[in-house]
Amino acid sequence: MADLDTPRSSYPVTRMRRMRRDDFSRRMMRETTLTPDDLIYPVFVLEGSGEREAVASMPGVERLSIDLLVEEARAVQRMGIPAMALFPVTPLSAKSLDAAEAFNPGGLAQRAVRALKDAVPELGIMTDVALDPFTTHGQDGLIDEAGYVMNDPTVEVLVRQALSHAEAGADIVAPSDMMDGRIGAVRAALEAEGHIHTRILAYSAKYASSYYGPFRDAVGSAANLGGGNKYTYQMDPANSDEAIHEVALDLEEGADMVMVKPGMPYLDIVRRIKDQFGAPTFVYHVSGEYAMLKAASQNGWLDEKAVVLEAMVSMKRAGADGVLTYYAKDIARWLAE
Ligand code: PBG
Repeated sequence: MADLDTPRSSYPVTRMRRMRRDDFSRRMMRETTLTPDDLIYPVFVLEGSGEREAVASMPGVERLSIDLLVEEARAVQRMGIPAMALFPVTPLSAKSLDAAEAFNPGGLAQRAVRALKDAVPELGIMTDVALDPFTTHGQDGLIDEAGYVMNDPTVEVLVRQALSHAEAGADIVAPSDMMDGRIGAVRAALEAEGHIHTRILAYSAKYASSYYGPFRDAVGSAANLGGGNKYTYQMDPANSDEAIHEVALDLEEGADMVMVKPGMPYLDIVRRIKDQFGAPTFVYHVSGEYAMLKAASQNGWLDEKAVVLEAMVSMKRAGADGVLTYYAKDIARWLAE
């Protein structure tokens, strides 16, 4: 009919594309930004000195002995990354059913904390509180005759482990085990022993995810775990309300920060938690997520820098205050370019 005579006023009243037209106006309305302050760098610690081993399923990631890790920490600090998270690679000979190595004051994690706080005191040092690197079966706790991970006896060991980390000088202890009541127990023990400044980052919504495979290779717990799984303590990927319940408990019990793990497939959980509690909320961009992006990039199928930065911005946009990522150093370098 009169299509050609349609007056211009019938064109879109709101032109969303005006603000997208130029770089300056895109920058003006950008809602989410990324800085090195948003990063926590997870590292794998080896016994010995001058030791460096590649992790096959995580190209670009290495396990380092403490002396080399100290050099790494200096670089991380210079890049403006606020904190590093330590994961010890426990020799088989130090693993046992009672996981006693977990709270050995002279253990690998405890020695690494001391060396790092001594050499680079301004860098935040975070430790993993869980028993899987120290048990012969690779579960995060002590098991009964049926193989069930026992809650309360495990919490007692976790408390000793967290105290040994705090005594070594850890700034943040991060229980990643998913036992019930462990945040309250660790908090009470830290207070009782005078460690009132030690922060707790609770892995509150930690899912029983298949994205942890490469990590279990990296710390050498995969072989021990065998065909086992962690379904009786880690969360079902199908659940969302349960994550809210977990976070509420951990905050009540004294967590300073909470975490969702893994990252990208769980951003709906991050948004719900941030909206509901407003507490410092972190995301673990886990080993499997790293491996996916790395493998596709190495094949030339994805532009690594672009896709990694997009992943980070997406996690922040979902409500994360920071991201644990094996890409932390690359990201800090890219942001400085
Ligand atoms: C162990 C722990 C795991 C990760 C961090 N701490 C593995 C697991 O629960 O089996 C996974 C990290 C990653 O995949 O990058 N309690």
